Amino acid sequence: MPHAARPDALRPDVPRPTSTLVTGGAGFIGSAVVREALARTDGPVVVLDALTYAGSRDNLPDDPRVVLVEADVADADAVAHAFTAHPPARVLHLAAESHVDRSIDGPMAFVQTNLVGTAVLLDAARAHLAAQGDEARAAFRFVHVSTDEVFGSLGDEGAFDTATPYDPRSPYSASKAGSDHLARAWGHTFGLPVVVTNCSNNYGPRQHPEKLIPHMILRALAAEPLPVYGRGLNVRDWLHVDDHARGLVDAALAGTPGATYLFGGSAERTNLDVVRTLCMLLDDRRPDAAPHEDLIAFVTDRPGHDHRYAIDAASAKNGLGWAPTRTFEEGLAETVDWYLGHADWVRRRVGADGLRRIGTGGRA
Ligand SMILES: NC(=O)c1ccc[n+]([C@@H]2O[C@H](COP(=O)([O-])OP(=O)(O)OC[C@H]3O[C@@H](n4cnc5c(N)ncnc54)[C@H](O)[C@@H]3O)[C@@H](O)[C@H]2O)c1
Repeated sequence: MPHAARPDALRPDVPRPTSTLVTGGAGFIGSAVVREALARTDGPVVVLDALTYAGSRDNLPDDPRVVLVEADVADADAVAHAFTAHPPARVLHLAAESHVDRSIDGPMAFVQTNLVGTAVLLDAARAHLAAQGDEARAAFRFVHVSTDEVFGSLGDEGAFDTATPYDPRSPYSASKAGSDHLARAWGHTFGLPVVVTNCSNNYGPRQHPEKLIPHMILRALAAEPLPVYGRGLNVRDWLHVDDHARGLVDAALAGTPGATYLFGGSAERTNLDVVRTLCMLLDDRRPDAAPHEDLIAFVTDRPGHDHRYAIDAASAKNGLGWAPTRTFEEGLAETVDWYLGHADWVRRRVGADGLRRIGTGGRA
């Protein structure tokens, strides 16, 4: 028996959506995605963001095409309303609790936003897509933005690729891993055109001061000790946020439904190397306070700290024609200059918490 046409496919008056919905668009990576989407798509860029401590209007470009919907991604009514008020042609889902150290101090917020929030958003996208015509359905993508931390920890050799089994080890990475599984389940079960992306550590402008690179820059400028976990030998791969944002919009415009793309910068560095490079950049810019390296202080390691992450980005290179454009050293120098030039932004983001250490407790 032929399938009955969906009622909406018969309604030529259903306008084809043109918006790009970016959840978490007021955060670090989300706001870079908003800029990239403004440059490469037509129509409004709708930011759905709860404006937690990590998100801010400050991060959004002053552009009439940007629409901010202040809502919790786990609030099903608010999310459904956003889809009706601003029907999207594509969704890039970045809203998340994103800091491993906070997930050690308070894991339940990670379960709520990263797992429940993702399920709510996926289901709203499913309902939205069911009401679209064939052309809009064919073009629609739900890009679920995840992390390399879902794959666990590597030894000194090898790199994560799309065949690497999941082995998350912190409440943050476990909640992200679960959200990846939910996204794929909505793809397999309901035919939602889901694309999952996993990326290594990002750096660049507008990253919250609690994260390693801005944290070290700002503490060094304040002549405060630079706390390096353990012996500083944990290895991370670093990608500039604008390179990541470009890859994510590539995935939204040309990704294959059901595909997974891994983004990485081929820039593996120990944490100690990163801090030393920052110190050298600051010595150059603030010679009176040199050598900043004297501020380095080794502190008790993060509980369960993964040793090494590295990415094989062949899936993004072959599938999307994507490659990073900046070297780590260029990008890091630009990032230091951005923080030096945005003291007001820093003051507003540091807030009452200051630059104190979090994520030390929690052992049963
Ligand atoms: N930062 C990295 O190095 C990195 C690397 C790989 C993947 N990721 C992933 O990319 C995404 C963005 O990371 P980021 O570093 O920009 O994070 P971020 O913490 O800077 O921003 C998160 C944004 O989500 C918003 N948000 C948080 N909870 C929300 C909720 N319940 N409802 C709606 N909005 C909410 C915040 O207000 C903020 O604007 C996350 O999903 C993260 O897991 C990050």
